[in-house]
Amino acid sequence: MVKVRFLRPDGSEEACDVAAGLTVMEAALNNGVDEIIADCGGALSCATCHVYVDEAWMGRAGAPSEAEEEMLEFALDRRPTSRLSCQIKLVEGLDGLSITLPERQQ
Ligand code: FES
Repeated sequence: MVKVRFLRPDGSEEACDVAAGLTVMEAALNNGVDEIIADCGGALSCATCHVYVDEAWMGRAGAPSEAEEEMLEFALDRRPTSRLSCQIKLVEGLDGLSITLPERQQ
């Protein structure tokens, strides 16, 4: 299992333990984190699964692919730590990952 924390803009948080291999987007949807819309279901064609990765985790989460970078252009309120959560696989090395949710997805 891998633990992931979702921090909401209002300061509340959701911590969940999910099976390794799921994506951050799947972890959110499976645990009622409504801020993740994920219109395209992980097909890298919507940007409504936008999140901010905690800076301390940026190295381990890896850099976005070129295709993800292109889709991130459509994310609202983009920051240097922006990622599309459907592209982050929760491998064991990401146990404890901290994710901040954006104020809005669209
Ligand atoms: S769910 Fe559509 S890009 Fe991630």
